[in-house]
Formats: sequence, structure tokens, C-alpha cells
Amino acid sequence: MRLLRSTTEGFDEAVADVLAGAIAERPGAVLLLATGNTPIGGFRVLARRAAEGAVDVSAVRVVQLDEYVGVPDDDRRSLYGWLEREFLAPLGIPAERVTRFDVAAPEDVASSCRAVDAAIAGLGGVDLALLGVGPNGHLGFNEPPSPADAPTREVPLAPASIVSNAVYWGGEDQVPRTAVTVGMAPILAARQIALVVRGAHKRAILRQTLEGPETADVPASLVRRAARLTVVADGAALGDD
Ligand code: F6R
Repeated sequence: MRLLRSTTEGFDEAVADVLAGAIAERPGAVLLLATGNTPIGGFRVLARRAAEGAVDVSAVRVVQLDEYVGVPDDDRRSLYGWLEREFLAPLGIPAERVTRFDVAAPEDVASSCRAVDAAIAGLGGVDLALLGVGPNGHLGFNEPPSPADAPTREVPLAPASIVSNAVYWGGEDQVPRTAVTVGMAPILAARQIALVVRGAHKRAILRQTLEGPETADVPASLVRRAARLTVVADGAALGDD
């Protein structure tokens, strides 16, 4: 494991460094990307570097990690909408280089999960999975318990995820009850996993992830099996005082 210990101020640059490193290693890199608060600043730094000509994203491919079921495309709260606003549009990555879930209609869920897995295989696998960790140890929407062989699938949201997402939906009762997620198996097959973790509220789960038992009850702990693991964490998450 490579631990990139950052200051709070340096965190976004460190996240961008990991993304830029994967793109430098392979210009057509396949990136499996989490949404959420943790990577957003790093995405902005990467977009700035690309605009300055320091990073070339013209061949990069992107795979969506997870999505709520039944949320239409044009709903700002869809995770694809977020990815488009915060990553794809600023970097000028066109739809034809993006693999996404198409689950606005619930009857499309199973075939969409199969299509995403087939697309990952067709791309030759994932070069870099950039993942955040939920307070309950989820990766994407692989809620606990999610074993290492969990496939890409529909999952009920854990109560903890409903609570933490309520702020985006205007109340817990508004949060969609199910989501789709790239499974633990395709995540763990990535050639590199980068776990990005910031803030004192993630301290306990980061410790469990890195030092506790490797268990389906803390899906993030299973990343220790990855071929190549990079952890980007700030001092608050690492418990430095
Ligand atoms: C979202 C995703 C989630 C988040 C996790 C942490 O696409 O994959 O697993 O990474 O919930 O979210 P933040 O970064 O907002 O704390």
C-alpha cells in the first residue's frame, strides 16, 4: 500500500496527482470514479491542469461507479448528472467515452448492470478506481455486508446512507431506496485502487479499513487485496493531532 498523507490544504492536489499519474501511465486510462464531497476538489484541480495543458485527457475513458434507481437523467441529483457537471464537462470528455448505468426505468436495472460489466470487460478492465468510503464502510453503493465477489447489482440503500444523503434530497423520505453499483468483484479487479479519505468524521472508518479485519461487514477493508492500493488521506482522517 502507498499512503499519500496530505495536509487538509494539499488534499485536492494529492487526489489530482493520483488521477494525473494514471493518465500519464496510460493516456487511454479507464477511470472508475466515485462522486461525492471527497473527490470533488481533486476533480477541479485536474480540470485546471488540463486547461493549462499539463494533463491530456483526450483519450481517457470513464466508468460510472453507482447510480440511484428511478431517477431521471435530467434530475440534478442523479449521480450521472453530478459526474457530468463536476468531471466530464469541465474536462470535455464526450458521452461516447463514458460507460454509465441507464436505470431511470426500474425494468432496465438488471440489463444495465450486465451492460456495465460487459463494457468494463470490453475496455480491457479498469486502470484506476478512485473511491471514497462511506461512514459505514461502503464503497460505491456496496453496502455492508458486501463480499469480495459481490457482482454489479441493484442494492437497497443502508439506513446510514439514507441519512447521509438526505441533505441532497430534501429529507430522508425523499431519498431513493435502491441504487445500482459496480460490484466489489469488478472494483477489486482494477489495476489500481485509490481510496480518498478526508476529515475527522472518517477517522474511525479509515482505521477499520486499514487496520481492522478484512471483512464483508466493512467492504472498504477488502481494498487491501487490491493489486495496487493508494490511500490519499489527510491528517484529520489519519488521526494526526
Ligand atoms: C458515490 C460513492 C460513495 C461515496 C461515499 C463517500 O459515488 O461512491 O461511496 O464515495 O459515500 O462520500 P463523500 O465523499 O461525500 O463523503
